[in-house]
Amino acid sequence: MEKQNIDWSALDFSYRETDKSYVSNFKNGKWDDGVLTSDHTITMSECAGVLQYSQSVFEGMKAYTTVDGRIVTFRPDQNAKRMYDSAQRLEMPPFPQDRFVQAILETIKANESWVPPYGSGATLYIRPYMFGSSAVIGVAPAEEYQFRVITTPVGPYFKGGAKPIRLKLAEFDRAAPRGTGHIKAGLNYAMSLHAIVQAHKEGFNENLYPDSRTRTLVEETGGANIIFIKGDTFVTVKSPTILPSVTRRSLEYVAEHYLGLKVEEREIPLTELPEFDECGLCGTAAVISPVGSVTNTVTGEEVVFKSGMEKMGPTIKKLYDTLTGIQMGTIEAPEGWIYEV
Ligand code: PLP
Ligand code: COI
Repeated sequence: MEKQNIDWSALDFSYRETDKSYVSNFKNGKWDDGVLTSDHTITMSECAGVLQYSQSVFEGMKAYTTVDGRIVTFRPDQNAKRMYDSAQRLEMPPFPQDRFVQAILETIKANESWVPPYGSGATLYIRPYMFGSSAVIGVAPAEEYQFRVITTPVGPYFKGGAKPIRLKLAEFDRAAPRGTGHIKAGLNYAMSLHAIVQAHKEGFNENLYPDSRTRTLVEETGGANIIFIKGDTFVTVKSPTILPSVTRRSLEYVAEHYLGLKVEEREIPLTELPEFDECGLCGTAAVISPVGSVTNTVTGEEVVFKSGMEKMGPTIKKLYDTLTGIQMGTIEAPEGWIYEV
């Protein structure tokens, strides 16, 4: 299959249309068979549930070209399950998990020429999502829904690639104790926009949210989980209000089984930040982005991690190389992680 003629290495994380999207509609109590479409627009009621009350959930995944030229994706069953859970929390009819995986594979296949070549630094980002499409005016779940899968080739999520980023300790809350922080709903991102625009204006790349109840514990950023290295221990956050990142859970396995690190998933007080050697953000879009510093703009305190502001720390680099090696086929993957298209 001939690849698109684009400068893959120049791509950033923005949207461009590819060939086909997948669409399935839920009507009269059931999901239809679903089709691939070249129509990249949607027509629906001006009073649709998604437009009035933000009834939408989504996922984020990637397709890779392996070193030997196969096209693969990473643990789509995990995204299928998380989207199922997200849908249930917003009273939406979940899309069957086996059909989700099938739809992802079909959509990648239909956009094969857009999957960046091995070694280009770019990947095909896959965005499955679902929203209430029928009219709703009283506060209630919609009757009809649409599930869609769109794809777009992307480069690094943060400008500057492997250069450590600066986090601002968020002045806003992300997730209420019994709210929606653990699901991937559009509303979690709508409410983060003001905080991210503010953080960017102040020269930061992202917000690090503390827990909303006590504001003393580390939670996550607007679009990624956070990871730390302390000696030979890989430390991640345990909290019921963060998104259960597929990347983070995969890294916990890689840290233990490939790199022989100790793994701790636990509460992390903000006061512990100065004790960590290395810090990173992890997620499908972020992959692993090194974090150089966290700043509390209210008190003026700044923690600079021991690995510094110039390059990725050595252990995070090993995690990055191992995970991306597994994804691109240069390192053997654990059973069931890689799905070939
Ligand atoms: N946390 C948030 C808030 C996110 O939006 C994402 C992105 O999907 C993640 C964490 C990382 O999750 P995953 O590794 O499953 O992509
Ligand atoms: C992802 O990592 O896939 C995300 O969805 C994060 C962000 C782009 C919202």
